[in-house]
Amino acid sequence: MPEDKRILVPPGDDAGVFLLNPEIAFVETVDVITPLVNDPFLFGKISATNSLSDIYAMGGRPLTCLAIFGFSSCDYDKEVFELVLKGAIESIHLSGARLVGGHSFEDREMKFGLSVTGIVEPDKILRKEGAQAGEILVLTKPLGSGILTTALKGDKVTEDDINEVIRWMTTLNAEASEIALSSGASACTDITGFGLIGHAYNMIKGSRVDFHIRRKAVPLLERVVEFVEMGIAPEGAYKNLQFHREYIVSSPDITEEDLLVLSDPQTSGGLLFTIKKDQIHILDKRKLHYWVIGEVIEGSGKIRID
Ligand code: CO
Ligand code: CO
Repeated sequence: MPEDKRILVPPGDDAGVFLLNPEIAFVETVDVITPLVNDPFLFGKISATNSLSDIYAMGGRPLTCLAIFGFSSCDYDKEVFELVLKGAIESIHLSGARLVGGHSFEDREMKFGLSVTGIVEPDKILRKEGAQAGEILVLTKPLGSGILTTALKGDKVTEDDINEVIRWMTTLNAEASEIALSSGASACTDITGFGLIGHAYNMIKGSRVDFHIRRKAVPLLERVVEFVEMGIAPEGAYKNLQFHREYIVSSPDITEEDLLVLSDPQTSGGLLFTIKKDQIHILDKRKLHYWVIGEVIEGSGKIRID
């Protein structure tokens, strides 16, 4: 069967893109997560922000959302259900999108997320591939949400202690996406379950470039290093590192803990995009938080870390 030419971005990128007419394409994604904080309102907010992120990673604007809710009516009362939805709606409204429906089902473990439809102009799609040698790597949120929420689950910290990461996880990537577009980003993705190294690798695998990441330039949330040194990290961080190790070239002073932090699965992480060095002034003009964590060099799809 011939490829349908209306599918501008097939599965494998942050979201699928389908051409509606010459000016407008749909951007579509779905993501569902299990609770990572105890407060149901915050969980709804974080999960919705996380689901909306893939639309921004493609350069799109979210329009409509459907809620997907797995819920055990034996374990929780209706109030919890409503609080999760309320939190989600707060994020959805901040994004300018609207909740138009959804579906709930009985499930032993709570799960919540959104299916999101957005729009994008076909010539403004931000793909994950396409980074050019000579460009710089920009990251828009600090790392460590997987490690800190693991510490929370292990009662090493309270929700109050980690309000900084909760703030980041409930920050939409809307402005980051706009800035990636206006600074002419040639490649963009959002940092989620595969961690920084995993998502960086997905941007360059099979290509003729490497990413050179400077460990000290990568922003980390408070206490992340401390917890990793205590052996507190989610299983996903170890798995991510194991899976990507063969694509990593690291200098001798990079420790196993450094690599674990850079592999930490993120929920609602920031955007990672590549731009020409001389476009940095566009980022400085805006209030966006950003960090230049390295550069794109000629190579063969490796992540170089020093
Ligand atoms: Co994504
Ligand atoms: Co995703």
